[in-house]
Amino acid sequence: CGIIGYAGHRPAVPLIVEGLRRLEYRGYDSAGVATVQNKEIDLVRASGKLAALDEKLAHINVTNSTFGVGHTRWATHGIPVEKNAHPHLDHDKKIAMIHNGIIENYQEIKADLLTKGYEFRSDTDSEVLVNLIAEGRKHTETMLKAISWALNQVEGAYAIALVCVDEPGIVYAARVSSPLVMGVGVGENFVASDIPAFLPYTREVVFIEDGELVKITSASWEVFRADTLEPVEKEVRTINWDVQAAQKGGHKHFMIKEIFEQPKVISDCLAGRIDTNKCEVVLPEIAEMEPPERLHIIACGTSYHAGLWGKNLIEQWAKIPVDVEIASEFRYRDPILSKGSLALAISQSGETADTLAGIKLAKQKGLQILGLCNVVGSSVARESDYIMYTQAGPEISVASTKAMCSQLTALLLLALYWGRRKGTIDDETYNRAVKDLRNIPSILDAELPAMRSRAKELCREYSEASSFFYLGRGLCFPLALEGALKLKEISYIHAEGYAAGEMKHGPIALIDPNFPTFALALKDDLFPKVKSNLVEVQARGGEIIALTNPGVELDVEHRWILPEVWGPLNAFMALPALQLFAYETADYLGKDVDQPRNLAKSVTVE
Ligand code: G6P
Repeated sequence: CGIIGYAGHRPAVPLIVEGLRRLEYRGYDSAGVATVQNKEIDLVRASGKLAALDEKLAHINVTNSTFGVGHTRWATHGIPVEKNAHPHLDHDKKIAMIHNGIIENYQEIKADLLTKGYEFRSDTDSEVLVNLIAEGRKHTETMLKAISWALNQVEGAYAIALVCVDEPGIVYAARVSSPLVMGVGVGENFVASDIPAFLPYTREVVFIEDGELVKITSASWEVFRADTLEPVEKEVRTINWDVQAAQKGGHKHFMIKEIFEQPKVISDCLAGRIDTNKCEVVLPEIAEMEPPERLHIIACGTSYHAGLWGKNLIEQWAKIPVDVEIASEFRYRDPILSKGSLALAISQSGETADTLAGIKLAKQKGLQILGLCNVVGSSVARESDYIMYTQAGPEISVASTKAMCSQLTALLLLALYWGRRKGTIDDETYNRAVKDLRNIPSILDAELPAMRSRAKELCREYSEASSFFYLGRGLCFPLALEGALKLKEISYIHAEGYAAGEMKHGPIALIDPNFPTFALALKDDLFPKVKSNLVEVQARGGEIIALTNPGVELDVEHRWILPEVWGPLNAFMALPALQLFAYETADYLGKDVDQPRNLAKSVTVE
């Protein structure tokens, strides 16, 4: 989602709407703006793209207020209707707040506020927080103290910005694990989730850190620690990006930005799905459903590869037989689908025509549908009986990266959840998976810069190659398919993903010194087998780049060492490495990385 707060000398509404337009790439399901005039909040919201808000504003008298907040939403939960759009008001309509993120303990807080007589107009966690701040204001002297009091009670990830009728000219903002920056202007100051929002007005930027609370007016800005209200000294930096570069977070392409977002994507997908006290996976979306007797996964492209990976874990832990099928094949077969089976449709966009046709067929044959999807309210979401959202945020680059990362996270949760419900997974595995999964985002975050350097180094050596093999076994086989797909999609180098053990049945005939192999040779049970497959490749003069782990003995041209994590979680290290190799190769070759030739982000035709 995109958020903006403004305190300055210009009319706030047009400035905020224009800023939101420059943030539209962050989400576009609904939008809203709130200002204060004559001690009243003026709130305008609309579902749909920003144009819908524009249209609404064109037909009403907007205030000349020179401070306010605005929001453009990428729905993660409730459907994108107006009542769920931001800003949200407190019960007495004195505070208007915008919020990105998730308040994990909102139900407890809501229950308490209900006993105090608060009423709620939406189903959102955001409305609970704005009311908690209002409650705080009753027994503190300033908004600043009230916000601090409230934030000390909430758990979760958020960036908020708010205005209040009692304190005209002031905008407050705070963050924990959700982006927030401040823009320092002349006679005006800004807060926003991203720099493009205010770039036409100022290039002077202060980066707000977790646990900080900001107060801006037209003439001043202050930053405090949210918990103690101690002032924090901040450095003002000058940014020389243009708007386009700023939309990519300073990255050259959306794809690399999205690859680097993956640690956050994993955390966001886990948010609200792991009960941290009990170390238990909770999936409210499917709590009502019995674990299926058989599962049919239908998907296309990268989502199909995620499905192949998920099959391994669901079979192993939940002992549910899983078929994974390319949707365009499934839809034209006459598959045998027995009662008690469930169809799982995986789709980032939720609009892929073949996947939708697969859903239709499965429905005709009497199956229930579980959708695993990134876009709230999309066709797959609407056609499904149950829907799990992957929470990866908008993916702009045509080649899918972070969406797959979120799909793997969700599939892993599904396997654990069903395994637990059926009692087929042992406690040790379950506990280890849940515990270690939560540490993956920080491990990956620390590792990504080094991975990128390694990818850069290696891709130069092989950028002349006209073909690549990608080899893996077990859980690494679907990753090999995905690595090859990424390379093809954006660098136009021919690449084939193969099960390493199948090479000897034909493909190995192609190996020569100019046909390199990218191997997934991680430290797992199948490593000795992969190793002997690689020896066969070497015996034919083939060069090898191998993703592997510390301490693994492997004599190949290039070892690319990844940190070793527990079992299946290694996918969260290997996947970004494969993506980075493809990305750096394509960029080195000067290809149009974000919009590769002949491809579309969502394929809505057969
Ligand atoms: C297109 C995209 C791929 C994507 C596939 C499936 O081909 O270019 O990146 O994996 O569609 O899309 P979906 O939105 O259903 O996951």
